[in-house]
Amino acid sequence: MQRILSGIQPSGQLHIGNYFGMMKTMIANMETSDLYVFIVDLHALTSVQDRKKLSTGTLEAAADFLSLGLDPEKCTFWVQSDVPEVCELSWILSNMTPMGLLERCHSYKDKVTKGIAANHGLFAYPVLMAADILLYQSEIVPVGKDQKQHLEVARDIAIKFNNTFGETFVIPEPAISENTAIVPGLDGQKMSKSYDNTIPIFLDDKPLRKQVMAVQTDSTPVEEPKNPDTCNLYALLKLFAPKDKMKEVHDLYVNGGAAYGYLKQDLFELIRDYYADARARKKELLQNQDYLRDILQKGADKARGKASETLAVVRDRVGLRY
Ligand code: ADP
Ligand code: TRP
Repeated sequence: MQRILSGIQPSGQLHIGNYFGMMKTMIANMETSDLYVFIVDLHALTSVQDRKKLSTGTLEAAADFLSLGLDPEKCTFWVQSDVPEVCELSWILSNMTPMGLLERCHSYKDKVTKGIAANHGLFAYPVLMAADILLYQSEIVPVGKDQKQHLEVARDIAIKFNNTFGETFVIPEPAISENTAIVPGLDGQKMSKSYDNTIPIFLDDKPLRKQVMAVQTDSTPVEEPKNPDTCNLYALLKLFAPKDKMKEVHDLYVNGGAAYGYLKQDLFELIRDYYADARARKKELLQNQDYLRDILQKGADKARGKASETLAVVRDRVGLRY
């Protein structure tokens, strides 16, 4: 079975981009792969420096995954910082990481442009991510397109390590779904917590409707034809509407008659119904935090077994023994 691994930062509310970019693929692979899913709280420290926010965000992220259908019996599911081996590997890999490789990372440059402090954690973020991936000998890493460059960094580091110390790491491949590589946000840019343009999955009906009504559209009159390919409302509808409904919507765009207000109401109802069961399950799970902690602890024990195996080999290869 292939080992598939991916993680999410507990840095804000889970949104539709996270779901279609990563989570859905992960959950779909549960039965047929050796699935590793984790909550990257160490990475979230680069943007969340608030004790309560980080710790409640971590439990929430666990409830998000479980409520959306992840079965902890069928995968390894844990919190990154519960396996401290990853920090040691990250340090070792840092010494195989040219500065230029990190200086070129768009994600780092974008975040600094947006005013996030350019500290060492933010700069070294891709090395810790490489350690996450390589520690578990991951073969496939499902992510949204924004993470593609980080995967390339992980591959470069693994290749350099293998060339220097002998075959040690599996070289990971990214898996990026064609249709959902970049889910657009309210403003048409990539939906992202850091752009404040998201539609969170677990909002209650009223705020959810408000958010969907805020999807930006152009001012073409109802009766005029519109281009579906450039409309973010259309792109979002396509994620949720059944094929026959989408055919009708497509015809309205192309021939005229698409009324944005009505289509937004449709989108609201589709999203509400799509996540209705998960929303109820999440509420229940959050009332049972000991259960969540227990699952994460068991997952961490499992992950740690694999992590220490890899780390023992790495320590030996580089000479961290005497
Ligand atoms: P955010 O950008 O909102 O902070 P994260 O960095 O926590 O999201 O991303 C978690 C996962 O969701 C990653 O695999 C990322 O590539 C994916 N993802 C995030 N936003 C989108 C999007 N708009 N479209 C597709 N995938 C996305
Ligand atoms: N950087 C990823 C993001 O922001 C999260 C992440 C950390 C990750 N470590 C990972 C994703 C390892 C996949 C594999 O979305």
